[in-house]
Order: sequence, then C-alpha cells, then structure tokens
Amino acid sequence: MKNLFIFLMILPYCGSSGVKDEKSVSVKEGDSVTLNTEVKTNQQEVIVWFFNNTRIAQISGDLSDICTDVECNEGTERFRDRLKLDHQTGSLTIRDIKNTDSGEYRLAILSHSSDSKMIFRVAVNDVPAAQRDEMKTKSVVEGEPVTLDPGVTKTPNDVMTWYFSDTLIAEITGDQSKICSDVQCKERFRDRLELDHQTGSLTITNTRTTDSGDYTLQINSSSSGVVVTSLKSFSVSITVSGLSAGGKGGICAVLLLIAASVCGFYFYKRRVKRKGEDYISDGIFPL
Ligand SMILES: *[C@@H]1O[C@H](CO)[C@@H](O)[C@H](O)[C@H]1NC(C)=O
Repeated sequence: MKNLFIFLMILPYCGSSGVKDEKSVSVKEGDSVTLNTEVKTNQQEVIVWFFNNTRIAQISGDLSDICTDVECNEGTERFRDRLKLDHQTGSLTIRDIKNTDSGEYRLAILSHSSDSKMIFRVAVNDVPAAQRDEMKTKSVVEGEPVTLDPGVTKTPNDVMTWYFSDTLIAEITGDQSKICSDVQCKERFRDRLELDHQTGSLTITNTRTTDSGDYTLQINSSSSGVVVTSLKSFSVSITVSGLSAGGKGGICAVLLLIAASVCGFYFYKRRVKRKGEDYISDGIFPL
C-alpha cells in the first residue's frame, strides 16, 4: 500500500516536465560518480532516484524505506553492488561506472511542503584498454629518488590525496598542500616526500626498502553538485644497491679469511726469518 502511494506520488516525476535543475557531466569508465542532492534531509522527505525511468534507489527520511538497485526493482541488477546511497542526504554514488551506465539520472525529493526534481545527464567515456586500471610499476635502487606521476591535467578545483597502502600521506587542495599529518607517516617518511602542485606528482627521496608497496592517488573533481573520483595506482619496489645483504656478508667473511691468512703467513715468515737469524747469531747452523 505504501509503495503504491509512493508510486502514485512519483509518477508525475518520470516525465521531464517541471524539472527544477538539469546538469550534464562527462566521466571516464571506472570512475566513481557522486550525484549530490544538495539537501539535508529533515527526516520527512522521500528521495527517489531513477535511471532512464527505472527506479534504482529510494530513501525515506526516517529510514523506514530504503532500497537500491535490485531491491527497488526485481529483475534489474544493472548496478549490482555499485550503488551507495547516503542516508543523510540521499546523494547517490555509482562506483566503477560503466559505459552502459550512460543516461539520465532523475532525482525526486518529495515532502509535505514542496517537491523538487533534478536531472543529471551522465555520459561515460571509454578508456582505451591499454590505459584501463593498469597499475604503473616503478623500481629503483635504495637511496635513489622515485617520482610517481599521475599524468593527468590538474584543475584548480581538484583535490588530490596520496595513500601508501591505506595510510593518507599527502594531500593537495587548491594551492594548499599537506604532507604527513600523522605521526606514523612522519616517522616513516621523515622529510622524504615532495609534492608537485602543478601535476600532483609525488617524489620520494632517499628511498628505503621499506618504501616498497602500493601507492594510490585519489583525484576528486567536483563541479555543480557532481563529484567524480578517479584512482591512479603505482606499485613501487625499492631494491638493495649492488649486492644483497646476504652477498655482502659472504664477501666480508671471505675478505676476513684472506686477511687472516695473509697476516698468518707474514708472521710465520717473520718467525722463520727470526729463527734463522737467531741460529746465525748463535753460530749454529739450522738443520
Ligand atoms: C538511457 O538513456 C539514454 C538516453 O538518454 C540512452 O542513450 C541509453 O542507451 C539508455 N540506457 C539504457 C541502459 O537504457
């Protein structure tokens, strides 16, 4: 009964008449896209999302009625686990967006006092197979610097965040930047990180083997209520210079042995020589 009521309420919103706001956004395959309602719910509204006239998400302010994707519509599981609905605002996030997710996302916010509607036209652009999600690999010798360059054009509104594994290590917001805001990061990288504000690239100087691992750059671009998040990943491997530690140990042992033998031989010779001299001075010829 409640669903029928909601259905009757939202029916007029399926058309495009009386739309308050329309936005267009162009994103890349694989990006995460957040469509913001720009409302703070007061627990009274019903917020409904449609994709090309199919209901894909719904939330009522008091959280009594929530659904996403297949829960909203049996038989449609276009998005599988890729939809996230913000319970506070009703904003919708589509993770790992696909080419086939291109289309119209309509939002209806229904409340006792007023109703509003929005349309987000989302175009998802192909990414060439060669560039798709590929993790860049970097390998340098311990002590050498390594630069992780995302190879993107940075716009002033972008927020760039660098992570080492899951730890935040650096952040660029507009012309502000922060490197290592927590103790753990400071201890690990101690003045060895440099950021390029123009390109967002990260340089690790005086590298150590413990710097090896995965580095991820998260780029958040936001314009007119749509936040697009894309990720760039780097796998960094810092190798020990020249010989491995084991090799070094081995060489040292061999050198020590040689040194000991040389010393031993030298002292033996000296003793023999001394003995000879003694015999001569004693006037006794050695046998
Ligand atoms: C959704 O609608 C757009 C046009 O607005 C169309 O190009 C697209 O193919 C539609 N997608 C699906 C899956 O129906």
